Parts: sequence; C-alpha cells; structure tokens
Amino acid sequence: MIKPNIHEFKQVYPEVTNESTLFKKIMTLIHSGISNAVVTLGEKGCLFVNRESAFYARVPQVDILNPIASGDTFVGGFIANYAEIGNCETAVRFASACGVANAMSLLPEIPKGVDINRLMESILVEIVE
Ligand SMILES: Nc1ncnc2c1ncn2[C@@H]1O[C@H](COP(=O)(O)OP(=O)(O)OP(=O)(O)O)[C@@H](O)[C@H]1O
Ligand SMILES: [Mg+2]
Repeated sequence: MIKPNIHEFKQVYPEVTNESTLFKKIMTLIHSGISNAVVTLGEKGCLFVNRESAFYARVPQVDILNPIASGDTFVGGFIANYAEIGNCETAVRFASACGVANAMSLLPEIPKGVDINRLMESILVEIVE
C-alpha cells in the first residue's frame, strides 16, 4: 500500500491537475503492481484505489486546530482497523475519521471528547465508476 498526500503525488506526477487525471494516474500504478493506493486530499478527504474498487471518502467540515500528523493518524487507523476487520472501505472510513479527529486537536492525537464512531458515520463514500 502507498499513501502519499496530493502534494507529494503531484511532485512525482506533475501532469496530475485534477481528480480525473489523478484517478487515471493511480490506475496505472495499480496495473503496474501496487496492491492498494490512497492519495489523501486534506479537507477534501482521500481517493482509495485497488483492483476491486475505487472510491473517494469525503470528510465533514469541522473546526480545525492543527492538521499536522493527520496523514500519520490516517495510516495508523487504517492498519488497526484493517487488521481487525479486513475490509478496505471500512478501514478507509475509520482512517478518515481518525485523520479528521487529529485535525481537531492542537496536539497530534485523537482528542478525548471526539466520538470516532459518530465521525465515521459522517464520512461519505463516493464510488468511482
Ligand atoms: N482540514 C481537514 N479537515 C478535515 N479532515 C482533514 C483535514 N486535514 C486532514 N484531514 C483528514 O486527514 C486525512 C489525511 O490528511 P492529509 O492529506 O493532510 O495527510 P498528510 O498531508 O499526509 O498529513 P501529515 O503528513 O501531516 O501526517 C485526510 O484524508 C482527511 O481524512
Ligand atoms: Mg504525510
């Protein structure tokens, strides 16, 4: 699995200028042998692609204090949830909720008052046909 953010991805592939060209470029990576690719898009959520499925996970607008480490929190959340349940869509929804929660705190953490399960319900999955 790879998980660059959109800025890192564009540094390697400057021809990517919008979500449509982003999706096409990720598909070439999947066909070249990468099993799972997620490009995180900050407040716009992320795009997940593997051979079986492709979808955006859109995040709610929340009061942001500090988004630094949201990507690391996303990866930790994905691995923890995937190890437990083994479903990519569920893991991306959980990971996204973790990333959002981290951004709601000044410190890199999931703040105590945040209900991750409720946040997870507010993640919207948009399937890419
Ligand atoms: N401003 C924001 N509002 C809501 N959710 C956010 C915001 N920023 C980040 N997130 C959540 O966290 C995830 C990862 O964020 P981002 O794309 O910023 O990662 P990153 O650049 O790798 O972060 P870092 O390198 O600082 O760990 C996003 O896909 C989203 O779910
Ligand atoms: Mg990062």
